[in-house]
Amino acid sequence: MAPPQSLYAIPLRDPFARSEMAEPTALIRLAVAGKRRLTPDIWEFTLAAAGGAALQPFEPGAHIGIETPSGAMRQYSLVNDGRAPDRYVIALKREPESRGGSRSMVEDTEIGGTLRADAPANSFPLAEAPGYLLIAGGIGIAPILAMANRLDEEGKPFRMIYCSRSAAEAAYLHEMRDRFGGRLTVHHDGGDPDAHYDFWDDFAEPADIRVYCCGPKPLMEEIRAVSGHWPEGRVQFEDFRPVEAVRPDDRPFEAALRRSGRTVAVPADLTILEALRGAGIRVPSSCESGVCGTCKTRLLAGEADHRDRVLMPEERADFIMLCVSRAQSGALTLDL
Ligand code: FES
Repeated sequence: MAPPQSLYAIPLRDPFARSEMAEPTALIRLAVAGKRRLTPDIWEFTLAAAGGAALQPFEPGAHIGIETPSGAMRQYSLVNDGRAPDRYVIALKREPESRGGSRSMVEDTEIGGTLRADAPANSFPLAEAPGYLLIAGGIGIAPILAMANRLDEEGKPFRMIYCSRSAAEAAYLHEMRDRFGGRLTVHHDGGDPDAHYDFWDDFAEPADIRVYCCGPKPLMEEIRAVSGHWPEGRVQFEDFRPVEAVRPDDRPFEAALRRSGRTVAVPADLTILEALRGAGIRVPSSCESGVCGTCKTRLLAGEADHRDRVLMPEERADFIMLCVSRAQSGALTLDL
């Protein structure tokens, strides 16, 4: 009998190992088994393997790429224990300016529906240390809570600082208070930037611990500033901040696809990747934030406005990241 095909046998993606035409990214199907509102803006989704197949295990700090109902690919941190998961639990914040990510997840998903997802990956793993300081701001609590639960289970020493605007806007607050007791410090700033938590006492003297921080940009900048004198690698950050893919003054342009002979119009408010997707042309993608390199495509003609964080300066004349970059002016010709 043939061995069962693993649900999570996702091939490693090499942007240059594509066949003549771009193939769809290999994704797994997940059923929406639960959806609940944790705060006015934060939602939790429980996703189970459609068909009951096994799910790939993961470690605290991992995230998963999910194709939202709008077709956009977004990455969300996993909250639950991933050692033998029968579900993936994510928490996300519905961003008011969301163009198809968190808004589509909240508005367009229903329990019983299905979503396509990438396998879990981890760019924020917990390392062995004599002790830990976990710092979360807002929705940054998702990977931090997974870490705290694991450390608590393993009896490892840690402290946690959770910052939010108010108690009502702090997801998982009651369960964390019950579980972590005095190891949890909660700070609410009421939306006043001058009322932020004073981290200096925690960072004045470099300690033999690991610090993990996930939250909004001002929080992470503050931690970077107060930990500048700490040994390299002791303080780790999780940053899913997307680059600015579409800006208010962007203009429409055309993308000519040399190999297929098609031309796709890219409107001012869509990325090249989204316009291709709308035209039924699928190109491998993952982060859709210009940071992973998956959508790297050869640029045959035209002048690109590069907005990614991965291309080397010497690559910029010949390649483009379709998820964030655009045309400077006129049309672009792509090797698709
Ligand atoms: S999908 Fe990650 S850089 Fe484009």
